[in-house]
Amino acid sequence: MRVEPAAAIVGHFAVPGDKSISHRALLLGAVSEGETRIQGFGRAADTEATISVLRALGVGVDEESPVSLRVAGAGLRGLRAPDGPLDCKNAGTLMRLLPGLLAGQRGRFELTGDDSLSARPMERVAEPLRRMGVRIETTDGHAPLTIEGGDSLEPLTYELPVASAQVKSAVLLAGLYAEGAETTVVEPLPTRDHTESLLAAAGATVKRGARSVSVWPAEQLELREVDVPGDFSAAAPFLVAATLLAGSELTLHGVNLNPRRTGLLDVLERMGANITVFNRRRIAGEPAGDLDVKPAQLVGTNVSAREVPLLVDELPLFALLASQARGDSVLHGAEELRAKETDRIEAVADGLRRLGAHIRARPDGFRVRGVPTRLRGGPMRSLGDHRIAILAAIAGLTSREGVEIEDSEAVAVSFPGFFELLDSLRRTST
Ligand code: S3P
Repeated sequence: MRVEPAAAIVGHFAVPGDKSISHRALLLGAVSEGETRIQGFGRAADTEATISVLRALGVGVDEESPVSLRVAGAGLRGLRAPDGPLDCKNAGTLMRLLPGLLAGQRGRFELTGDDSLSARPMERVAEPLRRMGVRIETTDGHAPLTIEGGDSLEPLTYELPVASAQVKSAVLLAGLYAEGAETTVVEPLPTRDHTESLLAAAGATVKRGARSVSVWPAEQLELREVDVPGDFSAAAPFLVAATLLAGSELTLHGVNLNPRRTGLLDVLERMGANITVFNRRRIAGEPAGDLDVKPAQLVGTNVSAREVPLLVDELPLFALLASQARGDSVLHGAEELRAKETDRIEAVADGLRRLGAHIRARPDGFRVRGVPTRLRGGPMRSLGDHRIAILAAIAGLTSREGVEIEDSEAVAVSFPGFFELLDSLRRTST
């Protein structure tokens, strides 16, 4: 796929439903009583993996339309052990959250994934669950995972060694099945909190502290309706493109503005971007709103460890912004990027450097020397990582010569209609 330079992007649209919330709505709907209706579902390869896995566990998922689903809840302990392995494909959220629910089910479960997911660390989920009494094994720290569920579980107070919403969620979900007392997760830094919000919406007792969240064992859950807000991570590439391309005028509708997801907005503001939030409202209990984006001249900024979880999936795009800002930018405390779908520190630094950016990888991030002109362009490999493929596309759009993306199909993992949408917004002259 080749992405040619554009002069501007112009238009308005609603981004697809939030991927993190879509996974969670499916998983909690599956163990709820009765039917859960999910509207505005974020349909993508990752969330389709969750649908397939739930069907293999005996859960009815009726697709009324691509974005409107009905999940026939099996009850908290009603998931059925399948004959074969459960294929999580590329979906880290699925592979890391599901063990929390399987811990409460009778039977033996095997979780597999694609090559990228099979290279990602899984002991971080297995270790706390084991402490709760779950029989869970990894393969040298990785997938395939096996879980023998249905044993009685001990409540746990767990200090997360890394800031990870996925690990937090797995422990909280297992906490639904613990006996007698609450399970508490203490976070080193705040991470996305959709699991605790949806658990509370489903009737679980959840208590939040400044740095911790607790869940009490539950008799039953009842979710009923989830209206999924637009995915900020899907909005992000367009925010970046409209900021970098003079003459752009873009409006995004119904975007999730949960402050644990919108770190890029704060970073963009520091860099001098021109973004206005209006129509603030709540969608499925999450703060949401519409965004107007106009172009701006940017200045470099630093991002520190404290901010990293708030824009963890947008850090590749931050590198592109920084490459075209005035002055230097440094990302610190983001070693977790090395454990994503690919080593995103190396993928970003190597990929953007080949397009003409002055970027150097650091063990925990990168350093960028900004030059306020377009990058030259050239070939860039996605390495099968959807966020790198999307970065390459926005780099191409904002470059002088365009970018040839190798393995561009990876975008389907989170955003199947991405290239069509980008094409409908591009303007070659202003
Ligand atoms: C996610 C949490 C983040 C993020 C991932 C989705 C989630 O991972 O990178 O894309 O839905 O909980 P970690 O929590 O492991 O950092």
